[in-house]
Amino acid sequence: MTMASILKKSLMALTGLCWFAYLVLHLLGNLALWAGPQTYNDYAHALISNPLLIPAEIVLVVTLLVHICTAWRVTNANNEARPQRYVMKASSSGSSTLASRTMWYGGVILLAFIILHVWMFKYGDQAGTHGLWGLVVRSFKNPFITLMYLVAMVPLGFHLSHGFASALQSLGALLPQWRPCLRTGGQVLGWVIAAGFMMLPLWALFIAKV
Ligand code: HEM
Repeated sequence: MTMASILKKSLMALTGLCWFAYLVLHLLGNLALWAGPQTYNDYAHALISNPLLIPAEIVLVVTLLVHICTAWRVTNANNEARPQRYVMKASSSGSSTLASRTMWYGGVILLAFIILHVWMFKYGDQAGTHGLWGLVVRSFKNPFITLMYLVAMVPLGFHLSHGFASALQSLGALLPQWRPCLRTGGQVLGWVIAAGFMMLPLWALFIAKV
């Protein structure tokens, strides 16, 4: 492996882990939805008035772009290095998983989801009853929006469940004997996060009173 490809893989791993950490914090923060409008809106207000918000948003955008660009270049380099990739795919499918084979499809769906999601909630109308809490809960009262979120969380689960252990492996943080354990740990973590995000729209649709 060349120095350039190690650098690209490490960048892809680091930027992926940045987003992984953001998603854990974002999920924990959004669990405050269950505590009601006052707590949730206070939490959102504390975030908005934090001077670190803009730098954090810049980091999120830059890491997302770098993640996509490096993923593109690593995929191209892998394809060029394997001219008979179709033959190899057929014979090596035992070592790849559904999650690893769908990273690109899932990534594209997630990018579209993130753009729509930020437009809906960050730039949505928070002037109605219960502010941001009301906007989020009323949006999920629409079964189509909840369905869209549930569907989008499936590629999120696949993406995280493969990406977490892969990223640690690319950064050389894994002794070979730890790999099976970390693969399973990554899968559990990825699906716990996706399931956590699924619970919020379901709670808003069926349980929350606005
Ligand atoms: C279904 C559960 C989710 C809920 C209830 C939720 C809620 C929110 C809300 C209310 C905001 C706007 C915050 C504000 O204006 O202060 C927001 C922003 C955002 N969300 Fe989510 N979110 C969810 C899932 C996700 C997922 C799965 C992702 C990524 C894959 C994501 C990525 C983002 C990003 C990048 C922002 C913009 C952050 C910023 O600019 O400060 N969210 N979310």
